[in-house]
Amino acid sequence: MKAEILRLLRESEGFVSGQFLCEHFGVSRTAVWKAVEQLKKSGYEIEAVRKKGYRLTTINQCYGKAEIESRIETKSFGRQVVFFSEIDSTNQKAKLLGEEKKPEGTLVVADRQTLGKGRRGRHWESPSGQNIYMSLLLYPEVPTATAPQLTLVMAMAVATALQESYQLEVGIKWPNDLVVNGKKICGILTEMSVEAEFINHVVIGVGINVDQEEFPAEIAEKATSLKVETGISVARSALIAAIMKNFESYYEEFMEQGNLGKLKADYNGLLLNKDKEVRISTPKEDYTATGLGITDTGELLVRLADGSQQEIYAGEVSVRGVYGYV
Ligand code: BTN
Repeated sequence: MKAEILRLLRESEGFVSGQFLCEHFGVSRTAVWKAVEQLKKSGYEIEAVRKKGYRLTTINQCYGKAEIESRIETKSFGRQVVFFSEIDSTNQKAKLLGEEKKPEGTLVVADRQTLGKGRRGRHWESPSGQNIYMSLLLYPEVPTATAPQLTLVMAMAVATALQESYQLEVGIKWPNDLVVNGKKICGILTEMSVEAEFINHVVIGVGINVDQEEFPAEIAEKATSLKVETGISVARSALIAAIMKNFESYYEEFMEQGNLGKLKADYNGLLLNKDKEVRISTPKEDYTATGLGITDTGELLVRLADGSQQEIYAGEVSVRGVYGYV
Protein backbone atom coordinates (compact mmCIF):
# COMPACT_ATOMS: atom_id res chain seq x y z
CA MET A 1 0.00 0.00 0.00
CA LYS A 2 2.87 2.42 0.79
CA ALA A 3 4.29 2.10 -2.71
CA GLU A 4 0.87 2.68 -4.26
CA ILE A 5 0.21 5.74 -2.06
CA LEU A 6 3.57 7.11 -3.14
CA ARG A 7 2.75 6.51 -6.78
CA LEU A 8 -0.64 8.25 -6.44
CA LEU A 9 0.89 11.22 -4.62
CA ARG A 10 3.69 11.55 -7.13
CA GLU A 11 1.37 11.36 -10.11
CA SER A 12 -1.24 13.76 -8.76
CA GLU A 13 -1.09 17.49 -9.53
CA GLY A 14 -2.47 18.57 -6.16
CA PHE A 15 -3.85 16.92 -3.04
CA VAL A 16 -5.12 13.36 -2.95
CA SER A 17 -8.06 13.11 -0.60
CA GLY A 18 -8.00 10.74 2.34
CA GLN A 19 -11.45 9.56 1.30
CA PHE A 20 -10.20 8.60 -2.15
CA LEU A 21 -7.29 6.65 -0.65
CA CYS A 22 -9.59 4.80 1.78
CA GLU A 23 -11.90 3.77 -1.06
CA HIS A 24 -9.03 2.93 -3.39
CA PHE A 25 -7.50 0.49 -0.90
CA GLY A 26 -10.71 -0.47 0.90
CA VAL A 27 -9.19 0.42 4.28
CA SER A 28 -9.93 2.84 7.13
CA ARG A 29 -8.73 6.44 7.38
CA THR A 30 -6.48 5.40 10.24
CA ALA A 31 -4.82 2.75 8.08
CA VAL A 32 -4.13 5.35 5.38
CA TRP A 33 -2.84 7.82 7.98
CA LYS A 34 -0.55 5.14 9.44
CA ALA A 35 0.92 4.31 6.03
CA VAL A 36 1.52 8.03 5.37
CA GLU A 37 3.22 8.37 8.76
CA GLN A 38 5.53 5.48 7.90
CA LEU A 39 6.42 7.12 4.60
CA LYS A 40 7.20 10.35 6.46
CA LYS A 41 9.42 8.39 8.84
CA SER A 42 11.40 7.04 5.91
CA GLY A 43 12.06 10.61 4.82
CA TYR A 44 9.26 11.69 2.49
CA GLU A 45 7.85 15.17 3.07
CA ILE A 46 4.09 14.76 2.92
CA GLU A 47 1.73 17.59 3.77
CA ALA A 48 -1.61 16.64 5.33
CA VAL A 49 -4.36 19.27 5.20
CA ARG A 50 -7.83 18.79 6.65
CA LYS A 51 -10.57 18.46 4.04
CA LYS A 52 -7.97 18.41 1.26
CA GLY A 53 -5.90 15.33 1.89
CA TYR A 54 -2.25 14.52 1.28
CA ARG A 55 0.41 15.99 -0.98
CA LEU A 56 4.09 15.23 -1.62
CA THR A 57 5.81 18.55 -1.00
CA THR A 58 9.15 17.77 -2.56
CA ILE A 59 10.04 15.23 -5.16
CA ASN A 60 12.59 13.72 -2.86
CA GLN A 61 13.85 10.24 -3.38
CA CYS A 62 14.16 7.95 -0.46
CA TYR A 63 15.78 4.89 -1.93
CA GLY A 64 13.95 1.89 -0.54
CA LYS A 65 11.29 -0.76 -1.10
CA ALA A 66 8.29 1.60 -1.35
CA GLU A 67 10.14 4.07 -3.60
CA ILE A 68 11.22 1.37 -6.05
CA GLU A 69 7.90 -0.49 -6.07
CA SER A 70 6.04 2.79 -6.62
CA ARG A 71 7.85 3.25 -9.92
CA ILE A 72 7.57 -0.28 -11.30
CA GLU A 73 5.36 -0.63 -14.39
CA THR A 74 5.73 -4.32 -15.16
CA LYS A 75 3.42 -7.31 -14.83
CA SER A 76 5.66 -9.10 -12.38
CA PHE A 77 9.37 -8.28 -12.57
CA GLY A 78 10.39 -6.02 -9.71
CA ARG A 79 6.90 -5.75 -8.23
CA GLN A 80 8.18 -7.50 -5.10
CA VAL A 81 11.29 -5.72 -3.88
CA VAL A 82 13.37 -7.03 -1.00
CA PHE A 83 15.47 -4.06 0.09
CA PHE A 84 18.57 -3.81 2.30
CA SER A 85 20.57 -0.76 3.34
CA GLU A 86 23.48 -3.15 3.59
CA ILE A 87 23.98 -6.77 2.65
CA ASP A 88 26.86 -9.07 1.74
CA SER A 89 25.71 -9.62 -1.84
CA THR A 90 22.29 -9.25 -3.47
CA ASN A 91 23.05 -12.30 -5.62
CA GLN A 92 23.70 -14.33 -2.50
CA LYS A 93 20.41 -13.19 -0.95
CA ALA A 94 18.43 -13.79 -4.14
CA LYS A 95 19.82 -17.33 -4.31
CA LEU A 96 18.56 -17.99 -0.79
CA LEU A 97 15.14 -16.63 -1.79
CA GLY A 98 15.29 -18.96 -4.79
CA GLU A 99 15.80 -21.90 -2.44
CA GLU A 100 12.69 -20.73 -0.60
CA LYS A 101 10.82 -20.60 -3.94
CA LYS A 102 9.94 -16.92 -3.61
CA PRO A 103 7.96 -15.69 -6.65
CA GLU A 104 9.55 -15.22 -10.04
CA GLY A 105 10.49 -11.59 -10.57
CA THR A 106 11.37 -10.95 -6.92
CA LEU A 107 14.03 -8.25 -6.96
CA VAL A 108 16.69 -7.92 -4.26
CA VAL A 109 18.13 -4.41 -4.03
CA ALA A 110 20.78 -3.05 -1.68
CA ASP A 111 22.21 0.40 -1.10
CA ARG A 112 25.58 -1.11 -0.22
CA GLN A 113 27.23 -4.52 -0.52
CA THR A 114 30.00 -5.69 1.76
CA LEU A 115 30.92 -8.70 -0.41
CA GLY A 116 29.79 -7.66 -3.89
CA LYS A 117 30.74 -10.35 -6.40
CA GLY A 118 32.07 -9.78 -9.88
CA ARG A 119 32.69 -12.35 -12.57
CA ARG A 120 35.62 -14.74 -12.37
CA GLY A 121 35.64 -14.50 -8.58
CA ARG A 122 36.46 -10.79 -8.62
CA HIS A 123 35.23 -8.32 -6.04
CA TRP A 124 32.59 -5.75 -7.04
CA GLU A 125 33.18 -2.42 -5.31
CA SER A 126 29.80 -1.44 -3.79
CA PRO A 127 29.82 1.83 -1.80
CA SER A 128 26.59 3.22 -0.31
CA GLY A 129 24.38 6.08 -1.53
CA GLN A 130 25.61 5.97 -5.11
CA ASN A 131 25.00 2.96 -7.27
CA ILE A 132 22.56 0.21 -8.14
CA TYR A 133 23.14 -3.32 -6.87
CA MET A 134 20.25 -5.61 -7.66
CA SER A 135 19.47 -9.26 -8.37
CA LEU A 136 16.44 -10.65 -10.15
CA LEU A 137 15.10 -14.12 -9.34
CA LEU A 138 13.80 -16.26 -12.22
CA TYR A 139 12.63 -19.82 -12.82
CA PRO A 140 13.05 -20.17 -16.59
CA GLU A 141 11.92 -23.47 -18.06
CA VAL A 142 14.79 -23.82 -20.49
CA PRO A 143 17.68 -26.26 -20.85
CA THR A 144 20.58 -25.43 -18.54
CA ALA A 145 22.78 -24.61 -21.54
CA THR A 146 20.36 -21.83 -22.53
CA ALA A 147 20.30 -19.98 -19.22
CA PRO A 148 23.58 -18.07 -19.67
CA GLN A 149 21.93 -16.29 -22.61
CA LEU A 150 19.77 -14.47 -20.09
CA THR A 151 22.82 -12.43 -19.17
CA LEU A 152 22.82 -11.04 -22.70
CA VAL A 153 19.08 -10.32 -22.44
CA MET A 154 19.72 -8.33 -19.27
CA ALA A 155 22.60 -6.46 -20.91
CA MET A 156 20.20 -5.38 -23.68
CA ALA A 157 17.57 -4.32 -21.14
CA VAL A 158 20.02 -2.15 -19.20
CA ALA A 159 21.51 -0.65 -22.37
CA THR A 160 18.07 0.18 -23.76
CA ALA A 161 16.96 1.75 -20.48
CA LEU A 162 20.09 3.92 -20.34
CA GLN A 163 19.65 5.00 -23.95
CA GLU A 164 15.94 5.73 -23.69
CA SER A 165 15.95 7.41 -20.30
CA TYR A 166 19.20 9.39 -20.46
CA GLN A 167 20.16 9.38 -24.17
CA LEU A 168 23.40 7.76 -23.15
CA GLU A 169 25.48 6.27 -25.96
CA VAL A 170 26.02 2.90 -24.44
CA GLY A 171 27.30 -0.26 -26.08
CA ILE A 172 27.85 -3.86 -25.06
CA LYS A 173 31.23 -5.51 -24.85
CA TRP A 174 30.45 -9.18 -25.46
CA PRO A 175 29.01 -10.89 -23.61
CA ASN A 176 27.66 -8.50 -21.01
CA ASP A 177 29.73 -5.48 -20.03
CA LEU A 178 28.07 -2.14 -20.68
CA VAL A 179 30.47 0.47 -21.90
CA VAL A 180 30.22 4.25 -22.37
CA ASN A 181 33.05 6.26 -23.94
CA GLY A 182 35.36 3.29 -23.64
CA LYS A 183 34.68 2.72 -19.95
CA LYS A 184 32.57 0.19 -18.07
CA ILE A 185 29.36 1.48 -16.48
CA CYS A 186 27.60 -1.80 -15.67
CA GLY A 187 28.48 -5.41 -14.95
CA ILE A 188 26.19 -8.44 -14.85
CA LEU A 189 26.67 -11.71 -12.99
CA THR A 190 24.28 -14.58 -13.63
CA GLU A 191 24.25 -17.56 -11.31
CA MET A 192 22.06 -20.63 -11.51
CA SER A 193 21.17 -23.54 -9.32
CA VAL A 194 20.88 -26.83 -11.19
CA GLU A 195 19.74 -30.25 -10.00
CA ALA A 196 19.65 -33.38 -12.10
CA GLU A 197 19.99 -31.34 -15.29
CA PHE A 198 17.08 -29.07 -14.36
CA ILE A 199 17.21 -25.43 -13.40
CA ASN A 200 16.02 -24.69 -9.87
CA HIS A 201 16.45 -20.99 -10.25
CA VAL A 202 18.48 -18.32 -11.99
CA VAL A 203 19.69 -15.09 -10.40
CA ILE A 204 20.77 -12.19 -12.59
CA GLY A 205 22.81 -9.66 -10.65
CA VAL A 206 23.31 -6.17 -12.02
CA GLY A 207 25.72 -3.52 -10.77
CA ILE A 208 25.42 -0.05 -12.31
CA ASN A 209 27.63 2.91 -11.49
CA VAL A 210 25.16 5.75 -11.07
CA ASP A 211 26.49 8.60 -8.91
CA GLN A 212 30.01 7.40 -8.20
CA GLU A 213 32.61 9.91 -9.34
CA GLU A 214 35.77 8.48 -7.85
CA PHE A 215 36.92 4.92 -8.34
CA PRO A 216 39.61 2.83 -6.66
CA ALA A 217 42.98 3.14 -8.44
CA GLU A 218 42.85 -0.35 -9.95
CA ILE A 219 39.64 0.39 -11.90
CA ALA A 220 39.84 4.20 -12.27
CA GLU A 221 41.12 3.91 -15.85
CA LYS A 222 38.29 1.71 -17.01
CA ALA A 223 35.21 2.60 -14.93
CA THR A 224 32.66 5.33 -15.41
CA SER A 225 29.20 6.26 -14.13
CA LEU A 226 26.02 7.99 -15.24
CA LYS A 227 27.02 11.06 -13.21
CA VAL A 228 30.45 11.23 -14.83
CA GLU A 229 29.00 10.83 -18.32
CA THR A 230 25.91 13.05 -18.09
CA GLY A 231 26.67 15.38 -15.19
CA ILE A 232 23.30 14.59 -13.61
CA SER A 233 22.25 12.56 -10.59
CA VAL A 234 19.42 10.31 -11.62
CA ALA A 235 16.88 8.59 -9.36
CA ARG A 236 18.11 5.02 -8.97
CA SER A 237 14.54 3.82 -8.48
CA ALA A 238 13.44 5.24 -11.85
CA LEU A 239 16.32 3.55 -13.63
CA ILE A 240 15.54 0.22 -11.94
CA ALA A 241 11.92 0.53 -13.10
CA ALA A 242 12.99 1.26 -16.68
CA ILE A 243 15.30 -1.77 -16.67
CA MET A 244 12.58 -4.07 -15.30
CA LYS A 245 10.18 -2.90 -18.02
CA ASN A 246 12.66 -3.54 -20.81
CA PHE A 247 13.80 -6.83 -19.35
CA GLU A 248 10.25 -8.12 -19.03
CA SER A 249 9.45 -7.57 -22.68
CA TYR A 250 12.78 -8.93 -23.92
CA TYR A 251 12.38 -11.93 -21.59
CA GLU A 252 8.93 -12.73 -22.99
CA GLU A 253 10.33 -12.77 -26.53
CA PHE A 254 13.30 -14.83 -25.42
CA MET A 255 11.13 -17.44 -23.71
CA GLU A 256 8.78 -17.65 -26.70
CA GLN A 257 11.63 -18.62 -29.01
CA GLY A 258 13.84 -20.42 -26.53
CA ASN A 259 16.91 -18.48 -27.66
CA LEU A 260 18.11 -15.01 -28.61
CA GLY A 261 16.88 -15.44 -32.20
CA LYS A 262 14.85 -12.34 -32.98
CA LEU A 263 16.64 -10.34 -30.30
CA LYS A 264 19.92 -10.95 -32.09
CA ALA A 265 19.60 -7.95 -34.39
CA ASP A 266 18.98 -5.62 -31.44
CA TYR A 267 21.89 -7.10 -29.53
CA ASN A 268 24.23 -6.84 -32.50
CA GLY A 269 23.16 -3.21 -32.91
CA LEU A 270 24.54 -2.56 -29.42
CA LEU A 271 27.61 -4.76 -29.79
CA LEU A 272 30.87 -2.81 -29.65
CA ASN A 273 32.89 -5.75 -30.91
CA LYS A 274 31.09 -5.83 -34.24
CA ASP A 275 33.50 -5.25 -37.13
CA LYS A 276 36.25 -4.56 -34.62
CA GLU A 277 39.41 -6.38 -33.86
CA VAL A 278 39.16 -8.55 -30.77
CA ARG A 279 41.86 -10.33 -28.89
CA ILE A 280 40.89 -13.77 -27.74
CA SER A 281 42.74 -15.15 -24.77
CA THR A 282 42.36 -18.81 -23.96
CA PRO A 283 44.41 -20.77 -21.43
CA LYS A 284 46.39 -22.16 -24.39
CA GLU A 285 46.90 -19.18 -26.67
CA ASP A 286 46.16 -15.56 -27.57
CA TYR A 287 45.08 -14.52 -31.04
CA THR A 288 43.23 -11.76 -32.80
CA ALA A 289 40.16 -11.89 -35.00
CA THR A 290 37.36 -9.66 -36.21
CA GLY A 291 34.08 -9.64 -34.28
CA LEU A 292 31.08 -10.28 -36.54
CA GLY A 293 28.13 -10.49 -34.16
CA ILE A 294 26.47 -13.08 -31.94
CA THR A 295 24.84 -16.33 -32.93
CA ASP A 296 21.25 -17.36 -32.02
CA THR A 297 22.63 -18.82 -28.82
CA GLY A 298 24.83 -15.91 -27.81
CA GLU A 299 28.31 -17.03 -28.87
CA LEU A 300 30.53 -14.42 -30.47
CA LEU A 301 31.11 -15.14 -34.15
CA VAL A 302 34.54 -14.00 -35.30
CA ARG A 303 36.50 -14.08 -38.54
CA LEU A 304 40.06 -15.32 -38.28
CA ALA A 305 43.02 -14.03 -40.27
CA ASP A 306 42.67 -16.91 -42.78
CA GLY A 307 39.06 -15.88 -43.51
CA SER A 308 37.45 -18.78 -41.63
CA GLN A 309 34.79 -18.19 -39.00
CA GLN A 310 34.74 -19.39 -35.42
CA GLU A 311 32.27 -19.27 -32.56
CA ILE A 312 33.69 -18.12 -29.24
CA TYR A 313 32.05 -19.77 -26.24
CA ALA A 314 34.10 -18.88 -23.22
CA GLY A 315 37.46 -17.44 -22.30
CA GLU A 316 38.45 -13.87 -21.93
CA VAL A 317 37.88 -11.75 -25.00
CA SER A 318 39.56 -8.39 -24.76
CA VAL A 319 38.57 -5.76 -27.20
CA ARG A 320 40.93 -3.27 -28.74
CA GLY A 321 39.83 0.30 -28.29
CA VAL A 322 36.73 -0.43 -26.30
CA TYR A 323 38.20 0.42 -22.90
CA GLY A 324 40.50 3.03 -24.38
CA TYR A 325 43.50 0.74 -24.10
CA VAL A 326 44.66 -2.42 -25.78
C1 BTN B 1 31.13 -8.18 -13.44
O1 BTN B 1 32.18 -8.66 -12.97
O2 BTN B 1 31.17 -7.45 -14.44
C2 BTN B 1 29.80 -8.52 -12.81
C3 BTN B 1 29.47 -7.61 -11.68
C4 BTN B 1 28.12 -7.87 -11.07
C5 BTN B 1 27.86 -7.03 -9.82
C6 BTN B 1 26.48 -7.17 -9.32
S1 BTN B 1 26.09 -5.97 -8.08
C7 BTN B 1 24.61 -6.80 -7.71
C8 BTN B 1 24.89 -8.29 -7.78
N1 BTN B 1 25.36 -8.78 -6.50
C9 BTN B 1 26.63 -9.19 -6.56
O3 BTN B 1 27.28 -9.62 -5.58
N2 BTN B 1 27.11 -9.03 -7.80
C10 BTN B 1 26.10 -8.51 -8.70
